[in-house]
Amino acid sequence: MSGRSSRVIPRRSHSSGPAFGKDLLTVGAIPRSEIVRLLRAAARLKTMQRQGVSYQPLLGTTLGLLFEKPSTRTRVSFEAGINQLGGQSLFLSATDIQLSRGESIADTARMLSLYMDGLVIRTYDHAIAEEWARHATIPVINGLTDLCHPCQVLSDLLTISEKKGSLKGLKIGYVGDGNNVANSLIEATAKVGMSISLGCPSGYEPDQRILDLAREEAALTRATIEITENPHVAVKEADVVYTDVWISMGREREQSRRLKALAPYQLNERLLSRARRDAIVMHCLPAHRGQEITAGVLDGPQSVVVEQAENRLHMQKAILLELLGGKKVKGK
Ligand code: CP
Ligand code: NVA
Repeated sequence: MSGRSSRVIPRRSHSSGPAFGKDLLTVGAIPRSEIVRLLRAAARLKTMQRQGVSYQPLLGTTLGLLFEKPSTRTRVSFEAGINQLGGQSLFLSATDIQLSRGESIADTARMLSLYMDGLVIRTYDHAIAEEWARHATIPVINGLTDLCHPCQVLSDLLTISEKKGSLKGLKIGYVGDGNNVANSLIEATAKVGMSISLGCPSGYEPDQRILDLAREEAALTRATIEITENPHVAVKEADVVYTDVWISMGREREQSRRLKALAPYQLNERLLSRARRDAIVMHCLPAHRGQEITAGVLDGPQSVVVEQAENRLHMQKAILLELLGGKKVKGK
């Protein structure tokens, strides 16, 4: 099968461009209705792939990936995804291009926009991703910043809806570092009407501005957001129990302080027993068995981390269709 993206994501009649702007930098910037649309599209793309259906509406497009931090899942799932949709990828290591010798983001973004159709950025400060988006005339997708990891969490919503049948009214218990993944989870749960309780030690809470904005959103969807220092409170009766690494990329120098502060927040069998019996266990990976999560829990029957990683591919294909699918394909 071939054809335009409209066969998987119906275009809105009143607009020819993506409904949430040129770029995807945060989940908070995506309207709730668009999250639902992305989830539906991702589910359809997953079914099509399972059925061996070839669907290449992005033929002739090029997706650049500019990564300043390591990556396995994000890089490979975006590269595979654009290829499956008929396009091609170009991986750019920040150390190999003139950026490393002082060329500005503004100049680089303008140049890359002439050669490519979209750009995935993985960087440190979120303001850097915003700068790329400001200067690029092509869509910029956040492949992880210190502040948030939107593609991860949008994919996670797909996994949760597959496992639980719906999203609204469910409770996520997140334990550990209030990091980029936690911040995106807060934004996403508030949008879709899920409750979230975060068990984090003092000094490792999520971003305050994200919390404030998400609380406004949560008031509309009847979601709740709780921050507690008690990990048992966070996972109590949870439908989904989620954790992530204690030492995110760029935080290596804080290792000993973090290991000490976060030790009581390990997701182990005892902590998991506080959640609902049918709770699923999630982790964005890579994981450190014996640190933030025990091997028994990560590899146990409640863990869905493998499907979670697979769903990166399907959700990101939906994102690529949404952001790149509306443009006139070169040479056509
Ligand atoms: N979860 C995730 O983003 O993994 P990578 O760092 O391997 O891309
Ligand atoms: N919080 C982790 C996520 C890795 C995918 C980090 O930023 O390193």
